[in-house]
Amino acid sequence: MSSNNFWQEQAKKWTIIALAPMDGYTDSAYRQIVKTINPNVICFTEFFSADGIVHSKTLAKEVLPHATIEKPLIVQIFGKDPEMFKKAAIIIEQFGVAGIDINMWCPAKKVVKSWHGSSLMINTETAFKIIEEMAKSVKIPISVKTRLGRENWENLVEFSLWLQNAWAKLITVHGRTYKQWFSGNADWTWIYELRKQLKIPVIWNWDVTDYDDWMKKLQNLDWFMIWRSSFGNPWSFFPWVYKPTLDEILTVMRQHTQFSLKTKWDKKWILDMRKHFVQYLHSFPGVKEFRKRLVLVNSLEELDEIIGKIGKLVDFRA
Ligand SMILES: Cc1cc2nc3c(=O)[nH]c(=O)nc-3n(C[C@H](O)[C@H](O)[C@H](O)COP(=O)(O)O)c2cc1C
Repeated sequence: MSSNNFWQEQAKKWTIIALAPMDGYTDSAYRQIVKTINPNVICFTEFFSADGIVHSKTLAKEVLPHATIEKPLIVQIFGKDPEMFKKAAIIIEQFGVAGIDINMWCPAKKVVKSWHGSSLMINTETAFKIIEEMAKSVKIPISVKTRLGRENWENLVEFSLWLQNAWAKLITVHGRTYKQWFSGNADWTWIYELRKQLKIPVIWNWDVTDYDDWMKKLQNLDWFMIWRSSFGNPWSFFPWVYKPTLDEILTVMRQHTQFSLKTKWDKKWILDMRKHFVQYLHSFPGVKEFRKRLVLVNSLEELDEIIGKIGKLVDFRA
């Protein structure tokens, strides 16, 4: 039975600052660059199908091995069948990760229609069974990422208390309902209220920017889970507000690319990096003219050539 205190210990250290799971973005290279900037960040993987982990001959071997710097790593999975979650958990644990997170967050239509993701907030019996089955089968802690509720926040506390009773060790709450989808303002009142009612740590997700913002919003919570503000700006994980120089950005951009080169096959390592290049440089108007080339970069040599030109151009203009 999972009786692991990992999350309680992290909460005591005051360091639950987490990189959010982000499909197509928070791959091994992204996680490694975030950990290079702040080793205290806890990284969550993108979500993977529990059924895929169990049935695919290749998925687990492709996505679960990770670099030492990424530890302690949390793997997020989605699905609907408690038995599949249990089998997937047993496989995942063998890869030396620190925990498994269950996606009860995703509002995508096809996900919800097939009773995955945020539909587990209403299919509660299955949700609790999933956690119990997993917690009985592995030693690593099971956590849940969810939303305020389906239509409103009314069931948040009750639902979370059940999750806690079913052995969940951490709850991340995205501050909007399923109905709000990706729009509307977050409502944090209920997350603060929830923290009062639970023994396990609660972290907040949605619309957190930098250290000053964390401090304004923290109150009784156990820190934050962040994605958007870290995209092209891993310095947003610094425990102080920091604006990197162009030089630092170019260095980190290259380092991120090298992590991608080391962890991916074929051309995917560079194709996946293109969206990051543009984002890293978005606040430097002087580099706008390089954008077209950055979204077509094909090799590390080509990237180095462009980085060299950007560096010189900006030196000259300064
Ligand atoms: C394209 C896309 C992919 C996402 N993938 C996942 C995912 O795999 N698992 C998950 O729990 N959340 C996922 N999210 C949600 C993010 O983890 C996070 O909740 C959201 O970006 C809000 O946090 P932020 O305000 O810090 O950006 C995704 C969001 C988007 C837009």
